[in-house]
Amino acid sequence: MDLFSPSLHVKRRIYLIVLVVLACLVALVWQQFQTSQPLTRPKVEQVEVKWANEPIQPIPLTIDLDRDQVALGKQLFEDVRLSKNNQISCLSCHSYSTGGTDRAMHETGGEKFGAINTLSVFNSSFNFRLNWSGKFEQLAQQIDSLLQNPKVMGSNWQDIIVKLRSSSQYRQAFARIYPDGLTPFNVKDAIATFEQSLYTPNSRFDQFLRGNAQALTAAEKEGYRIFKDYGCVSCHQGINVGGNMFQRFGVMGDYLANRGHVTKADLGRFNVTHNPADRYVFRVPSLRNVALTPPYFHDGSAQNLEQAIAVMAKYQLGRPLSKQQTDLITQFLGTLTGEYQGKPL
Ligand code: HEC
Ligand code: HEC
Repeated sequence: MDLFSPSLHVKRRIYLIVLVVLACLVALVWQQFQTSQPLTRPKVEQVEVKWANEPIQPIPLTIDLDRDQVALGKQLFEDVRLSKNNQISCLSCHSYSTGGTDRAMHETGGEKFGAINTLSVFNSSFNFRLNWSGKFEQLAQQIDSLLQNPKVMGSNWQDIIVKLRSSSQYRQAFARIYPDGLTPFNVKDAIATFEQSLYTPNSRFDQFLRGNAQALTAAEKEGYRIFKDYGCVSCHQGINVGGNMFQRFGVMGDYLANRGHVTKADLGRFNVTHNPADRYVFRVPSLRNVALTPPYFHDGSAQNLEQAIAVMAKYQLGRPLSKQQTDLITQFLGTLTGEYQGKPL
């Protein structure tokens, strides 16, 4: 008998142990899969090849999201029952056809300079913080606040859940998607998932970044060159051409004092941190789809892009631009308009 080859009995044992270990591994992986995922931002794909050194990156062409959650979130986003008076939905202020904003001077019901200009709901999941002041780090946190803020939806969770539970369609949809059914957490999760589906890829500028040199005209390319050379890109950069840092509004001069009537909203990040150094500091806004979302700035004080660019050149860079340069940058900004669900915005 060969001493080094195990007997049939020992071999069977080894097989058994291997089988048990394998079964444990499968169970572990399955469990990992099953545990509910926290709300995460969509992963940004690594940008291919050619334009990897540019300070702006393209929006991913597709983001993998649960279709049923997106559909349910969309329904909630458009449902007026989320508001106290059953008259206002998220869509009332964030229309898909106006760049994800209301194009109003201020949010509905806000007094002049008292409130704040509506931000776009498109591409918001790529911003490092939410709101002009960067108050929120997560979509779900912000939804909580919007639903209960008397100036926005003015409701509360108790009422919202009662109203939604009265719909058998909602009850069934939630039960199908979430093991614990219709809860505040799951309402927020569905809306946040839908918000992550509101991304606008394939703008002409992104086509250019991906290597199609023909996607931009010579004037638009020149506008982009000035945008970089002048230093706009030091603040407006990354995947959202903004949305990844805080900066003072009025680096080279006091824009808000010159405008007059300084309000609480003008204090920006100070309202969150109460640090005097954060007065007039704002999250740099994204310039994605910016041509579609006048008026501009947190106070809505610039009516068109030319005005906004002139203010930026003077107060952020201290270097006035000629009319021709402003026009070229305006043309470049126009190439940042993307597509929603395959159709141009
Ligand atoms: C009355 C108008 C109004 C309604 C209704 C409204 N919003 Fe907004 N939304 C705003 C305004 C104004 C801001 C900017 C607030 C700020 O920065 O302080 C904003 C900001 C946001 C942002 C942040 C975008 C960014 O880039 O930081 C998101 C996301 C958003 N809203 C989603 C929603 C959702 C979801 C709902 C429904 C639950 C909703 N909004 C309802 C007016 C509204
Ligand atoms: C020092 C940082 C900084 C620089 C440099 C800068 N910006 Fe801005 N930009 C901001 C901040 C902060 C805001 C938001 C101001 C506010 O509304 O409170 C802003 C807002 C804007 C807006 C309005 C966006 C909106 O949705 O309301 C446009 C357009 C814009 N910038 C374009 C430019 C251009 C073009 C340049 C170069 C000429 C430039 N910016 C340079 C920080 C900067």
